[in-house]
Amino acid sequence: MAESKDPAPEKVRVGLEARSYDIQIGQGLLSNIPALFPHVSKTTLLFIVCDEHLKTQASLISKVFHNLGINVAEVVLPSGENQKCLDSASKLFDQLVNARADRKTMVLALGGGVVGDLAGFVAATYNRGLNLFMVPTTLLSMVDSSVGGKVGINHPMGKNLIGAFHQPVGVAIDINVLNSLPDREFRSGLAEVVKYGMILDAGLFGFLEANAAGILAREPGLLVKIIKRSCELKAQVVSQDEREETGLRAILNFGHTFAHAFETIGGYGAWLHGEAVAAGMVCANKLSLNRGMIDESIAARVVALLKAFNLPTDPPKLSSTSLLEVMRNDKKSVRGNLRFILAKKLGEVALFDDVTEENVKGVLSPLN
Ligand SMILES: NC(=O)c1ccc[n+]([C@@H]2O[C@H](COP(=O)([O-])OP(=O)(O)OC[C@H]3O[C@@H](n4cnc5c(N)ncnc54)[C@H](O)[C@@H]3O)[C@@H](O)[C@H]2O)c1
Ligand SMILES: [Zn+2]
Repeated sequence: MAESKDPAPEKVRVGLEARSYDIQIGQGLLSNIPALFPHVSKTTLLFIVCDEHLKTQASLISKVFHNLGINVAEVVLPSGENQKCLDSASKLFDQLVNARADRKTMVLALGGGVVGDLAGFVAATYNRGLNLFMVPTTLLSMVDSSVGGKVGINHPMGKNLIGAFHQPVGVAIDINVLNSLPDREFRSGLAEVVKYGMILDAGLFGFLEANAAGILAREPGLLVKIIKRSCELKAQVVSQDEREETGLRAILNFGHTFAHAFETIGGYGAWLHGEAVAAGMVCANKLSLNRGMIDESIAARVVALLKAFNLPTDPPKLSSTSLLEVMRNDKKSVRGNLRFILAKKLGEVALFDDVTEENVKGVLSPLN
């Protein structure tokens, strides 16, 4: 009987000279990873770091590599942002020592952004750098954290304070893993996809509007399309500004100055990151609107699309004084001036450093 085959994966090349790599996107990729990336055949030890919700998939990958005669070590981590800490990194270093890891070891990160950032950081630093292979399993990690090479852990004084740039040798995105992703996590990831439409691609934005219902129903063809386009857009930005030096990479932070303040003052966990980004993008658009840079119809389309994805569109009721305090300390602020990425039209943004605190207060909730 003929076997039903999944279509060949879609490919996105991240062009970074010697550090270039492919992101492959499709269905049923997990059982086929060795064939997807030539590096794997040069590997003597595969060190899998996985989120506790991905144990079944980790076993599947282990088996495939065992069958090829490659040693496999598997570490399962509890889920949660608090895993992104020095203590977890230290335990992983111990396990790499115990497994006799060397330069031919491949670290495979199987999980969301937490596992990707943590395992990526360990791969960047152990033995001055091990090969890293990303298998992102949340929508957010597929379209954002697994692309671009930023890896890191948190310090009690700040998120992502300790980190590195370490590009993976490959990324495999198997959309079948999204079947088990909770709805709220899925919708949170959609906020970043909307962001790519806003900052770089009005066509993507229109596609999201036209297909919102099918996307929420997680139709595979639609998922492959929006994930691929998001990866292409992030790859374009990253390949022009790998280390955040020219300022181009900053456009990826559209809505994020507000979002970080909402997350910090509201308490991490009250809102998921994408939820904070959704409300942050609406605030940023209100700033543009008040400056006469975009018209009402564009701001309204963004709100309508975010609502269709059941994402928040109003800023949380938090003290604007406290929120502004966080924004002043934002990485993008220079000598205390607030800097914002603002929309000039759908699909185009730019950095502005003349936004006043009064302007910002004007778009926050009228709490005080
Ligand atoms: N490096 C970067 O460029 C970058 C970019 C954006 C975000 N990040 C980081 O990413 C992290 C957030 O990532 P995230 O949103 O993926 O969160 P996450 O890794 O915490 O995953 C969210 C939740 O989903 C669960 N999960 C993951 N995949 C699943 C699946 N397929 N089925 C069922 N449950 C699943 C996890 O256990 C967790 O409970 C943050 O630490 C953030 O700083 C990094
Ligand atoms: Zn983000």
